[in-house]
Amino acid sequence: MDRLLPSASVLTLLILSFFSEVNSASFKLVNKCRYEVWPGVLSGANTAPLSPTGFALKPGKSRTLSVPKAWSGRIWARTLCTEYSPTNFSCVTGDCGSGKIECAGSGAKPPATLAEFTLNGADGLDFYDVSLVDGYNLPMLVVPRGGTRGGCSATGCLVDLNGKCPRALRVAREGGVGRVACRSACEAFGDPQFCCSEAYATPDTCQPSVFSLFFKHACPRAYSYAYDDKTSTYTCASADYIIIFCPLPYTSLKVLGIRKDGAVLPLVNKTMMYF
Ligand SMILES: *[C@@H]1O[C@H](CO)[C@@H](O)[C@H](O)[C@H]1NC(C)=O
Ligand SMILES: *[C@@H]1O[C@H](CO)[C@@H](O)[C@H](O)[C@H]1NC(C)=O
Repeated sequence: MDRLLPSASVLTLLILSFFSEVNSASFKLVNKCRYEVWPGVLSGANTAPLSPTGFALKPGKSRTLSVPKAWSGRIWARTLCTEYSPTNFSCVTGDCGSGKIECAGSGAKPPATLAEFTLNGADGLDFYDVSLVDGYNLPMLVVPRGGTRGGCSATGCLVDLNGKCPRALRVAREGGVGRVACRSACEAFGDPQFCCSEAYATPDTCQPSVFSLFFKHACPRAYSYAYDDKTSTYTCASADYIIIFCPLPYTSLKVLGIRKDGAVLPLVNKTMMYF
């Protein structure tokens, strides 16, 4: 008996670690927009792919994807898509240029709000953020569920910024009616100061701009420029994630059962809620 106990616990450990390697997390994508969206998925270069890489999601619908344990990559929503034929599919925002509903290894054309994940990274933690570094096309919320360690804060951008987007960054539909997205200053002007490139390629030399601050004030937890790491990357261990497109900014926290969490910045900036 004395000799059996240790080996039994070793076996238990082996079984546990086996399952934690194979066990997959899940992403539940929820469309709370009043319009249809077409989520796109881009897996990182050294990661198991996630399938499908693109699909349609009608208003009010959700779809749960099974995610490999150490997956990294990004998820976004394409809007105003048209399928002219099975090989001629394109979207006004977030288009991945594949010509099909599946993105098949292509990323989003900016501007697009991005949810970025590195699951099971350093110290076994998941790292996640919602990024406006490549611009913005719709509100998005990422909520971890069932995490065992880490802050596990919700993050995202809950407000609709298309209407209030600074003139120089606005993207309108063809013909100029209706604002559909808001570009990053980097994409709009190509200036190294906004892109954090060349002489500005370090956290010390690349500072927030009036444009990145527009995003940061409206969406305090979202990434607003390339070196906005400190207040924009969140961690959680062994969680599943809910990714909501167009969450309701007023009720979502209560509805989702999100209590006050340890994050420094608020999820919504109350002084900007009503714009
Ligand atoms: C897709 O169809 C539209 C509408 O018929 C057309 O204008 C466009 O050129 C087509 N694109 C491609 C890549 O075939
Ligand atoms: C909220 O918005 C106001 C007005 O734009 C801004 O001055 C303030 O810094 C913002 N708060 C946060 C936490 O970003």
